[in-house]
Formats: sequence, C-alpha cells, structure tokens
Amino acid sequence: MKILVTGCNGQVGWELGRALAPLAQVTSLDRSELDLAKPDAIRTTVRALHPDIIVNAAAYTAVDKAENEPELAQAINAQGPQVLAEEAKRCNALLIHYSTDYVFDGRKTAPYVEDDTTNPLCAYGRSKLDGEQAIQSTGCRHVILRTAWVYAARGKNFMLTIMRLARERPELRVVNDQFGAPTSAPAIADATASIVGAFSRGTGTHGIFHLTAAGRASWFDFAELIVKASGPPYPVVHPIPASEYPTPAQRPGNSCLDNAKLAHVFGITLADWRIEAQRILAELRQAAPPPGQKA
Ligand SMILES: NC(=O)c1ccc[n+]([C@@H]2O[C@H](COP(=O)([O-])OP(=O)(O)OC[C@H]3O[C@@H](n4cnc5c(N)ncnc54)[C@H](OP(=O)(O)O)[C@@H]3O)[C@@H](O)[C@H]2O)c1
Repeated sequence: MKILVTGCNGQVGWELGRALAPLAQVTSLDRSELDLAKPDAIRTTVRALHPDIIVNAAAYTAVDKAENEPELAQAINAQGPQVLAEEAKRCNALLIHYSTDYVFDGRKTAPYVEDDTTNPLCAYGRSKLDGEQAIQSTGCRHVILRTAWVYAARGKNFMLTIMRLARERPELRVVNDQFGAPTSAPAIADATASIVGAFSRGTGTHGIFHLTAAGRASWFDFAELIVKASGPPYPVVHPIPASEYPTPAQRPGNSCLDNAKLAHVFGITLADWRIEAQRILAELRQAAPPPGQKA
C-alpha cells in the first residue's frame, strides 16, 4: 500500500510519518516538494506516485493572518484540496483530510455533532469549510476529520507559546470563556493510522468525523496545566474574557466537538486532554529541564 502525506513538516504531518510508517510505503512531502497553491504540481505529483491513500496534513493555519489574505487561505485550504480530491478520484485513492471546529460559530451550548449547521466566523474557518465542501463535491472516497486546538512538542502552538511566556513574564492573562479540547498531533496521527488500518481491512466508512481529545477546557485551564507541569518559574495565570484579548479573527466560544460517531464507526476514542498534555509536557521537560534541574 502506498500513502502520500502532504504538509509533512506541520504538527500533524510530522507525526503521521511515524504513525503511518508501519502500515505502508509512505511518501511524505513538505511545502517545497508539493505546494497546495499550485494545482498543476498536485496533478503531476499524484499521477506520478499513484497512491492508495492521500493524507492531506498541509493547510494554511495562520488564523489571524487569513483575515488579510483570504485568497491565499482559499487557494491552500479549498482549491488545493479540491484538486487533491479530483486526483484521488481519478486513481481511486482514499483522501483523508483535516478540518476544524472553526467551521462552527460556537453558539451551540452542547458539543457539535457532524451534521450541525456550519457558520464560520472568520476567513480561515470559511476556507476550511469550502475545502470540506469541495472535497465532497468531487465524489472521491474521503474521510474528513474535524479536530481542534492542536498542539505538539514542535511547531507553533499554544503549549509552546505559554511555556515561553511563563519563562519571560511573572503574570499571564489567558482567555477563560472559549471552550474546547486541546488535542495532540500524536493522538491525531495515531487515530489516522487506525482509520487507515480499518480501510485496509475493508471496514472503513467515508464521511466527516469529529476527532478531538475527551474532556473540555478553556484556554485558561490549558495554560494553568502547562504552567504547573513545566516547572519553575510559576507565573500567576489570570482568567480574562475573550473581549479583553481582541484578535483580528473572531473565534467560536464553544469549540467542543462530539466524538461519538468516530467511536461508533471506527472504535476510536482519544484520552482526556489532560493525559496527553501531561505526557508531552513531561517529554519536553525531560528534553530541556528548567535551570538547576538535571535532565
Ligand atoms: N493547529 C490547530 O490548532 C488546528 C485546529 C483545527 C484543525 N486544524 C487542521 O489540522 C490540520 C493540520 O494542522 P497543523 O496544526 O498540523 O498545522 P501546521 O502545524 O500549521 O502545519 C501545516 C503545514 O502545512 C504546510 N503548508 C502551508 N501552506 C502550504 C502549501 N501551500 N502547500 C503545502 N504545504 C503547505 C506548512 O508548511 P510550512 O511549514 O512551510 O509553513 C505546514 O508544514 C490542518 O488541516 C488544520 O487546518 C489545526
């Protein structure tokens, strides 16, 4: 079995290299090797590799910047995935693609299920929703995994930002009225490998699925856990409303996704967000212990 992974230097793309390697011959391409903003390059690459499965981990993920360059976000998050999907259909490959909680407006009080009404509040969310719809419109075999609040031991993410700020500042102010489930890139990659396994056994089902860690947190809850688990110095973390932390892109207040469909169809359930966060923080701490502590 041959798998093509795009965006292999991203948080999820990097972990996919590890998680998929035992299952198939994996070709992992970064942006310099396959640029999703270049439709002809997508066609040439997929036709040359003729993969059985394409896992698209490439995306324009600069949520605030997307407000100023919505066309680029659309090109990478919607038009590129559409061409990938057309090419997947052409060679009868399965396309596994990632989407986001930002397709919703966050006004629902309960966790979102897959067929809840979408209503993105920002340009990034609109580009990701257009990507989902473009993939669906091609009729290719696809699995779209909506995830949220992704972090890893490498890359740009909330965990690493809070760890850095904790070393630099005695006090942090963190939003306490937006809720979601911090979800680790390793857990997303492992779940993706399980889905690949299901399809290779002939038991996979196509469609959109929600894939997030179990449990619910605010950014403040996540920051508190990061600060406590990272070791000294321990800055004071103050909860603030999102209205006191204005950003160019509007974000949903409720980012919680219901994962029951994924559990029912694939038998996949991720652990509580705290467990993965503690594990990754322990790894980071071992790799770079606080001053005065031995590795
Ligand atoms: N991060 C989150 O909190 C979050 C939340 C919900 C859903 N998601 C979705 O989860 C998926 C994986 O996200 P992630 O967190 O792994 O993102 P990430 O760490 O930002 O990685 C995205 C990767 O895509 C690459 N890329 C950007 N433009 C590209 C282009 N034109 N052609 C090819 N590659 C390009 C980037 O390359 P460079 O390294 O060269 O920039 C980067 O390696 C995405 O679909 C994202 O929308 C993420």
